[in-house]
Amino acid sequence: MIEQLRNAASEAEKRLAEATDLDQLSAVDSEFLGKKSVLTGLKKQLGGLDPDQRRNAGQALNEARRRIETAVIEARTRLESGALHARYEAERLDLTEQLEQIERGHYHLVTQARDRLEDVFVGMGFRIAEGPEVETAWYNFEALNIPEWHPARGSFDTIFVDLGEPEEVMLRSHTSPVQIRTMENQEPPIYIVAPGRTFRTDTADATHLPAFNQIEGLVVDRGITLGDLAGTIDSFVHAFFGGEVKSRLRPSYFPFTEPSAEFDISTADGTWLELGGCGMVHPNVLRNCGIDPEQWQGFAFGFGIDRLAVMRHQLDDIRELVNNDVRFLRQF
Ligand code: PHE
Repeated sequence: MIEQLRNAASEAEKRLAEATDLDQLSAVDSEFLGKKSVLTGLKKQLGGLDPDQRRNAGQALNEARRRIETAVIEARTRLESGALHARYEAERLDLTEQLEQIERGHYHLVTQARDRLEDVFVGMGFRIAEGPEVETAWYNFEALNIPEWHPARGSFDTIFVDLGEPEEVMLRSHTSPVQIRTMENQEPPIYIVAPGRTFRTDTADATHLPAFNQIEGLVVDRGITLGDLAGTIDSFVHAFFGGEVKSRLRPSYFPFTEPSAEFDISTADGTWLELGGCGMVHPNVLRNCGIDPEQWQGFAFGFGIDRLAVMRHQLDDIRELVNNDVRFLRQF
């Protein structure tokens, strides 16, 4: 009987080690440990043995049961981890898979122009300043020496916001309000450029966009002259467009500068292209910001970044910048 028990245990161990799925495992389990199993059958015979034999056979029975139970647990662990592994494999998602080569993006043409402008001006000693895109009449007009009755106010084709008093709140029609905000918050000497979005009621055409970008420059220091303005514009033009490109100032009018000028750059075919406006900061503007024009002088300039990008890449329609056609954008 002891021999039979050992054989049964060995047989069960062997079959469990060979089992390839959980069904086979439970079949072996009930065959060897279940109600109708060899072990249960032998256990029933224990009663008929004499006490010595019964003790030996009882120990052998326990020993066999322990061996089989251990083998069942081992087999179950092995098969379950295998089953889990198989499930993981079957459900596996390869998140790194790429069906087609994805092209790397790059900065938009206008952002590139703006970044380069900032680099050039920072290299010349300017700091970058910013202001809000929604402005009040004070910052967009009044403090810039454009009172309500001033004819220049109409020429800005302003987009008003329906907030507060009529024509009090607006999308800024130029970056010049940042001049005022800077002078209000900072003592001279001031050397800043302020790039940013600006808005006018213009209908989009080959040379206009209703939402566009400008960059404003402002210098306030002691003894600043028109020569400093002309020299700064010339240095900037050389640094941005290259050595051969020249600049010139043409007399013009802006309420916030006196004298005022328009500045042009030379092109390869000998003609001049208008880039922006500039001038010596009007004493009223300095006074509006609490700066004494007897002690401090300044110059300011402003021009369109989008137009600059158009010139630099010789585009024939400014609307290309906002059409978002990747076939166009990817060329730059
Ligand atoms: N703000 C002016 C415009 O948008 C440009 C300008 C800026 C002119 C600074 C003079 C000085 O037309």
